[in-house]
Amino acid sequence: MSQYAGMKQANNSAQDRSRMVDFRSDTATLPSDAMKQAAISSPLGDDVFAEDPTVNALEEKTAMLLGKPAALFFPTGTQSNLAGILSHCQRGEEVLLGDQYHIFRDEARGASVLGGVAMEAIPTDISGCMDIDCLTAAIKPDDPHCAVTRLVSLENTVSGCVQDQQVLDAIAEVAHQANLVVHLDGARLFNAAVAQHCPVSNLVSNADSVSICLSKGLGAPAGSLLAGPADFIGTARRNRKMLGGGMRQAGLLAACGLYALENNIDRLADDHAIAKQMAVELAAIDQLEVDLQRVQTNMLFIRPRSDNHDQLREFLSNNGVLIGGQSSFIRLVVHMDISASDAANTVELFQRFFQKN
Ligand SMILES: Cc1ncc(COP(=O)(O)O)c(C=O)c1O
Repeated sequence: MSQYAGMKQANNSAQDRSRMVDFRSDTATLPSDAMKQAAISSPLGDDVFAEDPTVNALEEKTAMLLGKPAALFFPTGTQSNLAGILSHCQRGEEVLLGDQYHIFRDEARGASVLGGVAMEAIPTDISGCMDIDCLTAAIKPDDPHCAVTRLVSLENTVSGCVQDQQVLDAIAEVAHQANLVVHLDGARLFNAAVAQHCPVSNLVSNADSVSICLSKGLGAPAGSLLAGPADFIGTARRNRKMLGGGMRQAGLLAACGLYALENNIDRLADDHAIAKQMAVELAAIDQLEVDLQRVQTNMLFIRPRSDNHDQLREFLSNNGVLIGGQSSFIRLVVHMDISASDAANTVELFQRFFQKN
């Protein structure tokens, strides 16, 4: 019997269409029929006037889940992180963050470009954790030669790795002792909470502000939220408008987000189980190197030992499977539109390819 027996089926709208099995990112999910139904049946209003009841409900629910006083809806995680940083920092101030974090590597350095906020990257280890000694050393003295260190930015998960909560707490403690504020990019925070069987609020009590994404493993088409103290969220609301993120009848999207928070959190465990199973089976292929310890949520990274990566990518694509990664590694991200049988078929394709190559 397949090792994937009993694991989930792909969500219904994905099942009905001919499609590629897309492992490139969990952002590839399409809204399910039930989610789309929620969108068209929710009450709407003008959210720039804070009059969209569905957006307001989503913001309240998110604040409650995260244990923060207030939350604000954004179109993207990039804008939510950016508005968060701009709401904490003035021009000439500085944020310290991990050298492999999304805000540093993949958000076009928006805080520096648009906000005049400097960034100093702190070395991270294989699991994405910042070196606490390097971080401490990077906090600047009160010296006119230096930027004014203002913010430490954390991330969880980092490339699918759940961050050690004790280390995050210790980093936040160092930051707060130095009168810095702490932001957490929790684009995949719910994966971290599900992997650790704990409420998501347990993971963020050390952070002054948190950004979460609805459009990754939770399966909404768009949307992120920034949470924190009420006055900070008030400043973020102004910054969101300035950045062009004030949407009008945004309840159409917020309804998808509410549906995601109500229905799609617990099922992330299915994605994690499938990712683990695939990792074990792919690790049994001699030509592949899989670091099983790093498969903690829905992502797996694979290093082919030979340099036939491009042929592998083409072979998989010709057989209906898209993979991510760069020339030296492959990234597979499991999400709600990938069923257990999609995963089993993909492993078989890898096995077939490496029997011949
Ligand atoms: C860790 C992390 N933070 C932030 C983002 C930004 O989210 P968005 O694509 O909605 O701007 C991403 C997107 O993949 C991410 O992986």
